[in-house]
Amino acid sequence: MNFSKKLTDPVFKVIAEAGSDVETYLVGGFVRDLILNRPSKDIDVVCVGSGISLAKVVAGKLGNHVNVSIFKNFGTAMLKHDGVEIEFVGARKESYRRDSRKPIVEDGTLEDDQNRRDFTINALAISLNEGNYGELIDPFNGLGDLKKKLIRTPLDPAITFSDDPLRMMRAIRFATQLNFDIEADTFEAIINNKDRINIVSQERITDELNKIIMSKKPSYGFKLLYHGGLLELIFPEMVKLQGVENIDGKGHKDNFYHTLQVLDKVAEKSDDLWLRWAAILHDIAKPNTKRFDKEVGWTFHGHEDKGARMVPGIFRRMKLPLHENMKKVKNLVKLHLRPIALVNDRVTDSALRRLLFEAGDDLDDLLLLCRADITSKNMDKVKRYLGNFSKVEKKLKDVEERDKVKNFQPPISGEEIMSHFAIKPGRDVGVIKEEIKEAILEGKIRNNYQEAFDLMIEIGEKIGLGKQK
Ligand code: CTP
Repeated sequence: MNFSKKLTDPVFKVIAEAGSDVETYLVGGFVRDLILNRPSKDIDVVCVGSGISLAKVVAGKLGNHVNVSIFKNFGTAMLKHDGVEIEFVGARKESYRRDSRKPIVEDGTLEDDQNRRDFTINALAISLNEGNYGELIDPFNGLGDLKKKLIRTPLDPAITFSDDPLRMMRAIRFATQLNFDIEADTFEAIINNKDRINIVSQERITDELNKIIMSKKPSYGFKLLYHGGLLELIFPEMVKLQGVENIDGKGHKDNFYHTLQVLDKVAEKSDDLWLRWAAILHDIAKPNTKRFDKEVGWTFHGHEDKGARMVPGIFRRMKLPLHENMKKVKNLVKLHLRPIALVNDRVTDSALRRLLFEAGDDLDDLLLLCRADITSKNMDKVKRYLGNFSKVEKKLKDVEERDKVKNFQPPISGEEIMSHFAIKPGRDVGVIKEEIKEAILEGKIRNNYQEAFDLMIEIGEKIGLGKQK
């Protein structure tokens, strides 16, 4: 099979010319994505010789504005051309030790290089050599697997996964991104080698997990992780969500599958990784808060607060960033029951204002999460709940338009309080600011300067502060 027609970028001819005295091939993810017509970010070039020398010649041919970055320790070189990264490496043979993902590397042939790769669909090469330019070199029938939508290792999967256990995560990640199946022997080898994941750094595991989460239908990846036994090892809190208990004929939802449904629904509407994490974690404390009450059945009181408190620990362990994004996830988990609790017609404006204030910039994401959280087999029920929920959204919108509390800025600043009463920074300033904020949220005064100023005077008198000097 010849793909020369697909190699439209003139840079391929330049590489071919530069590599006229060494065997040169396109390999890996680039070839896979080219055949699948997926957009690809970077180009991997392998040559039977020195990748670094080849990169230098290519750069020379492209013009002197092109910089080559050389990674001597890895024997690779990279250059950027028209916004695309092109990586050059010499063909290599790899062997692994038991305790490390770092292989012992020797120079090798193209065949050696294809043998060392993780999946048949990633072991495809396209020749850039004269004589067979554009020809596919596919020793493991990766093309067939692309057609059959199958993830399969080129060699014995037990060896491939034991050598580099990150590949178990990669198998599931590619299956999820591409909507492929994992071939039975390959999947069985994941089950058998799952414990080897403990030699992989958390950062690499989390990278793959995030790619699964960012896929179109992340639930598929989580189910594969669960059935492969990896989820228990990398994310045990999530596995605890699985299962239904029955007492006196009363059961509860399976919270694992419910969570995955919510995650997929959020993924349909938003590409925000952190909102997707909030979906994953929204019910994470349900197993810890589960009780059975003879009158009302199963309850999960306080799971939203406990869940929010679990977020930093999970983020720390996963080596996810602990700054703004974590706060957002925590806030969404904490507030995820609040909008639906506002369905009641008798709900006060102050309750709406409080939610607007606490959600702040996360409000739209919170509403999206809450909508996705409405799952039931009973479609009438879902329809009714969604209808009610639209009313809540409208009420929130109306109150926000009127009172502007979402991004609440105190109408009276700390400086003004201090200068008016001639006091130094301290507790009294905080007390006055807090009381003004509460009065606005409670609807006792409106969110404007004059009413806040009058209240400031009143509070000042009450707590015994003198008038302006
Ligand atoms: N590879 C491998 N084992 C790994 C990582 C990578 O065999 N643990 C090989 C595969 O042949 C892969 C190539 O190196 O195609 C490039 O790896 P990488 O850039 O991580 O993945 P891509 O396949 O390019 O896909 P993506 O960019 O989507 O991650």
